[in-house]
Amino acid sequence: MDPYLTDVLDVCLRFLHVISAIAWIGASLYFVRLDLSLRPPKLASEADAGVAGEFWGVHGGGLYHSRKYRLAPEEMPYPLHWFKWEAYTTWLSGFALLVVLYYLDADTRLVDATVAELEEWEAVALSVGGLALAWVVYDVLCRALGRRSQAALAVVGVALVAVAAWSAGELFAPRAAFLQVGAMLGTIMAANVLLVIIPAHRGLVAAMAEGREPDAGPLLEAKRRSVHNNYLTLPVLFTMLVGHFAFVYGHEDAWLALVAIAVLLAAVRHFFNLWHEGRRPWWILGVAAAAVVGLALWLRPDEPASSGGAPVVFEEIAPIVEERCATCHSGAGAPLGVRLETQAEIDARAEDIARVAVQTRVMPPGNATGMTNDERELLGIWIASLP
Ligand code: HEC
Repeated sequence: MDPYLTDVLDVCLRFLHVISAIAWIGASLYFVRLDLSLRPPKLASEADAGVAGEFWGVHGGGLYHSRKYRLAPEEMPYPLHWFKWEAYTTWLSGFALLVVLYYLDADTRLVDATVAELEEWEAVALSVGGLALAWVVYDVLCRALGRRSQAALAVVGVALVAVAAWSAGELFAPRAAFLQVGAMLGTIMAANVLLVIIPAHRGLVAAMAEGREPDAGPLLEAKRRSVHNNYLTLPVLFTMLVGHFAFVYGHEDAWLALVAIAVLLAAVRHFFNLWHEGRRPWWILGVAAAAVVGLALWLRPDEPASSGGAPVVFEEIAPIVEERCATCHSGAGAPLGVRLETQAEIDARAEDIARVAVQTRVMPPGNATGMTNDERELLGIWIASLP
């Protein structure tokens, strides 16, 4: 595809994706907080009318009073607001981005021959298949195991995230591997809305319209799925943002980092959920903070090798950068505006070059230009010899 068209689609789809995700996740955070903060209604008449709990909030210049009904009020309220297009738009725009950036440009972004020698179509098929597989496995587990024990489901869920992260790391370019796992979890979240939560709500509204008692089973399952989504929000957001942090996705055990960070973030979400219930489990934040420090120490990239002998001068590395980097990083279309043509440009980027080509090796993507280890070492020594 024309690179400019890719850029335009990238910015439009990304903007749509972020905005709809904010609306979706905002609603998830808000409603879970609302649910956990519900207190029995003060008025007996409300309790008699089927109100299970109420919530008072102050926001935007006024007091708001929300009530949750045990099942439903006697009369169908109108208008009744649904929450689904935030989720659908987030998934659709996210998938479109995946297609435009990673599938149409699979050679540079999805496939990394140093990881796995896949044809472009094979990588795309594995990626799409992974999204579908994630939902099927999760949904079966919810039905088989989740109805008996949510805790057991959580443990199996973490193990499966580990399997997904490890497999993605064995199949795709490092950056794409994180995104793949995030897209799998995001697909589970969106499918929960489409295939479980919204159908349960439809059933509830239909029962009300027909004046019969709604079936509590699907509503209970919808509640569970919406709690799962709530716990997945932070881990998914992290996988979406990690592309900025090569020291994480470029680490040799990046899959393990992904699992640890996902558990850590779900635990942080748990802290907030307990907080909304009126509890103050500070130890969770303490453990999470210690884990962040531990992760930061563990993920720290090795310093570039010290020369030990003669310093390396610019003239020695200039041909390497020209051959291995400037093929892409030149001219007006240079990725992210990173141009590596003149000595001034290369000097100014020395630290970035060390980070992406020596410490983490995420550049060149998929080692497209066949950079050798000796060349990387030479670059490292050059950077170490800079004043
Ligand atoms: C096949 C094309 C290609 C080659 C070759 C290539 N890059 Fe990149 N580079 C990219 C793309 C695409 C991006 C933008 C990634 C993104 O979308 O964030 C990028 C981004 C970067 C960035 C900014 C990202 C960051 O994390 O700071 C740096 C720095 C960089 N490349 C350095 C290098 C160096 C050094 C080399 C040579 C060793 C190199 N690149 C070779 C395509 C290439």
